[in-house]
Amino acid sequence: MLTPLEIEQLKIKYLQPLEASKKLNNYFGKDIKEGLSQRPKKIPSKYFYDDHGSQLFEQICELPEYYPTRTEASILRQYAAEIAEITEICELVELGSGSSTKTRLLLDAYDRQNEVFKYMPIDVSAGILKESATQLKQDYNSLQIEGLVGTYDQALTQLTPTSWPARMIFFLGSSMGNFNEIDCDNFLNKIAQVLENGDYFLLGIDLQKPKSILEEAYNDSQGVTAAFNLNMLAHLNQKFQGNFDLKSFKHQAIYNERKKQIEMYLLSEKEQEISLKNLNWKVNLEKEEKILTEISRKFDVEKTKHQLESKNLKPIKVFSDENNWFALILCQASK
Ligand code: AVJ
Repeated sequence: MLTPLEIEQLKIKYLQPLEASKKLNNYFGKDIKEGLSQRPKKIPSKYFYDDHGSQLFEQICELPEYYPTRTEASILRQYAAEIAEITEICELVELGSGSSTKTRLLLDAYDRQNEVFKYMPIDVSAGILKESATQLKQDYNSLQIEGLVGTYDQALTQLTPTSWPARMIFFLGSSMGNFNEIDCDNFLNKIAQVLENGDYFLLGIDLQKPKSILEEAYNDSQGVTAAFNLNMLAHLNQKFQGNFDLKSFKHQAIYNERKKQIEMYLLSEKEQEISLKNLNWKVNLEKEEKILTEISRKFDVEKTKHQLESKNLKPIKVFSDENNWFALILCQASK
């Protein structure tokens, strides 16, 4: 239980839908209809993350085959103190905070360094955000928490200037890998835009490596990744009153070596008609037809550094593990 003072230091806000996206005619379910009208069919990856999906993702992070979380955590364990030393006290803003498990390694470093400090977790899943924020408040006495429920876009356009000496936005877990090149470029532009001169950006990226290691990480032996992928359909059923029969779809994850990305699909095992009642909309799937649910791009440190540099996000230090499987790039905004 939190004390009244602790409750005062823990705020959760719900971000508003963007005016701009309303103007773009981004009505309810538009992205689903568009994606399922393309060839190959696609569903945006954000639909993985209802509360159950976020839980399944937490389980993925514990899998023996899924090395990214563990590797990134080991880098943080080794270098968090150095990162805190470089940035000194700052407001910590995390995009896609989830359970904030790895974040604790960073928070520990700032906690040792400062009397009080502030953390703003941002996540689309309200359930996991509230739960982890409450737990963090219990564990870190000197922490002010302001959680934001919403998408990255909402957060990046609605962040107000910080009253702390600086701000560090961090984006861990190689989640940037979910964006294609264009979306990635736009995303980095937005980051550069919201950061003031001298602010920091800490980016976690999964690096290119042999196909076999990558494909095992996305085809785990316990089938958790498959369940995570299929849960997207359950989420759509719930959200749009759909009739996806999860048993008639199969999980598939392959590494596209040319594009340097994992591609995750749901494969329809039979010809079927999908109806989304809420949207008043139907679509046909052929037998063996694939729906692309996620890309997970694998990065090259030098190329990524150049890209960041070109956005005036100056890389000041790269932290990596001994195998060079994963990297954290610390950048400073310099306009
Ligand atoms: C959270 C997007 C970084 O791409 O590795 C894990 C999601 N998908 N297993 C990733 C994911 C399948 C993960 N990201």
